[in-house]
Amino acid sequence: MSTTFLDQASLYQVINNLHFYHKKRLLLWFFAKSATVSFIPHSINSFQAFPAYKIQFQRLVWGTIITNFVSNVLEKKVGCDLMLITEDRNIYDIEKIFEVVLAFNSVKDRTELLYVILTKMMEITFSDAGTLYTVEDGKLHFRIIINNSMGVFQSSETDEIKLPPIVLDRDNIQNVSAYSAIKNEIVLVDDVYCENERFNLSGPKNYDKMTGYHTRAMLVIPICTQGGADEEVLGVIQMINPVDPETGEPSVYGNINDPPILQALSKIAANTLSNLMYVKELRLLLRSFAAVMTQAIDERSPYNNNHTQNVAILCERFAMYLSSIYPQGHAYHFDKIHIERLVLAALLHDIGKIITPLSVMDKANRLGERLEGIRYRFELKKCQNEIDWLHKRISNEEYAIEKEATSEALVFIEHVNTMGFLTDDQLDVVKGLCRIQYRNSEGAVVDLLEPDDVEALCIKKGTLTAAEREIMQQHVIITKKMLDNIPFWKYYGNVPQWASSHHEFLDGSGYPEGLSGKNVPIESCIITIMDIFDALIDNDRPYKKGLTIDKALGILIKMADDGKLHKRLVQLFADSKVWE
Ligand SMILES: [Fe+2]
Ligand SMILES: [Fe+2]
Repeated sequence: MSTTFLDQASLYQVINNLHFYHKKRLLLWFFAKSATVSFIPHSINSFQAFPAYKIQFQRLVWGTIITNFVSNVLEKKVGCDLMLITEDRNIYDIEKIFEVVLAFNSVKDRTELLYVILTKMMEITFSDAGTLYTVEDGKLHFRIIINNSMGVFQSSETDEIKLPPIVLDRDNIQNVSAYSAIKNEIVLVDDVYCENERFNLSGPKNYDKMTGYHTRAMLVIPICTQGGADEEVLGVIQMINPVDPETGEPSVYGNINDPPILQALSKIAANTLSNLMYVKELRLLLRSFAAVMTQAIDERSPYNNNHTQNVAILCERFAMYLSSIYPQGHAYHFDKIHIERLVLAALLHDIGKIITPLSVMDKANRLGERLEGIRYRFELKKCQNEIDWLHKRISNEEYAIEKEATSEALVFIEHVNTMGFLTDDQLDVVKGLCRIQYRNSEGAVVDLLEPDDVEALCIKKGTLTAAEREIMQQHVIITKKMLDNIPFWKYYGNVPQWASSHHEFLDGSGYPEGLSGKNVPIESCIITIMDIFDALIDNDRPYKKGLTIDKALGILIKMADDGKLHKRLVQLFADSKVWE
């Protein structure tokens, strides 16, 4: 069993700076695990008297307990100089180990984490070179290659690494990295040029021939998740040529019969990597869910059926454009994660339309489905006029006047039905049409236009009546209700609000809440601009031609001048040309 000799004063310093919770945990841990502690204090306060020397500190480092304990030590910024001495005579600076663990836990991006894992493991073993592979499709793929003395840094993310992947099967067991991954074992090769019966070391030798490098010692560590049924090797770290940190001279890797520190670190690295993969899968799942919902909404309507997709694409491009011209930390700078959240909000912004009736959502003109009924009643009126004339109940002249007036009224109604805007004079004519009467199926003389027909025909601008507009506006309330029922974790916490505020205007005239000024999130301001822009240039509707880009931008600028839209963002959008 490896043993740690701790300086008592240093240990006190660490313990005294720990949070009460961690003091307690540490105490419990000692209680449970340590056989060599000669005195267990009766209370937390008596910790001061803890006679800590020659304790099995290594076990504390070993395993996941390190994550909570160690990170708190460092968060408290305890300046300690504890050294952990293992039986293999490797001396690890504990503070350095803590730093490595913290570094693993602080990275949120997989590519960056792979880089941190390799560089930190190289640092802690004082290696001159290293390679990190990940396991995918039963093969080890080169991800990062670093060689400090040769100034080499290659990443599969940015460089084309021409080395073929290493197949993980029993036939390839002589490959040292394949062996480490298949057997889940740490492998140490003291000198690759010494005869070795276990491994085929032609790979590093060929590399040396090509590059002029001299590979000497090699330490290969599998990146394996915590034990149990789900234990999984996610990759392999191959470290090469240790150097003496003091002199810079070639050194040796220690005995690996008991390498708990490196093993523990590789397990922590693996678990962090695994957690990141789970988070990535969750994010992908959420994104796929949003995409499916988006498709369902867009396909409900034959018109502008790429609207949601278009808004999401415009938001993404515009946020990237903003980030290219504003520095990190600026309110208009959107990092990768922020853009991902914005795009998700854009994809979900109209999700509430899933319950909006198509008769309202796709209403192309003022009368909508009512026009057919009106035409039918006009036809009936014409027939009644003709019958009255045939039965000599009206004169020739009265018949002709009535016939012409009826036809003209219908033509006028059909014209008004599709007009974008009605003048006051036209509204007066519409109101005059209310006097037209006909005989219904029961023979009663009644108004030909029903109250709902008149209300629809009197819409000054647009196609929706007040009641229909309310139904339409409900979609943002439904969006909010639906998204509030999804347990977005902190990562996407603001998405429901950003999505459901896309009809708010800065002057407070929007809906549903009439938010104004700074109460409208900047992300919602962006979605609003893209939403209006896409609707204006929409060319899918047969009855309404989409506007040109210039005209659409003109309307956005006018709305910004009127205080509805974010003036600076509209100007930046016009400059960005992200629609191209
Ligand atoms: Fe909307
Ligand atoms: Fe929309």
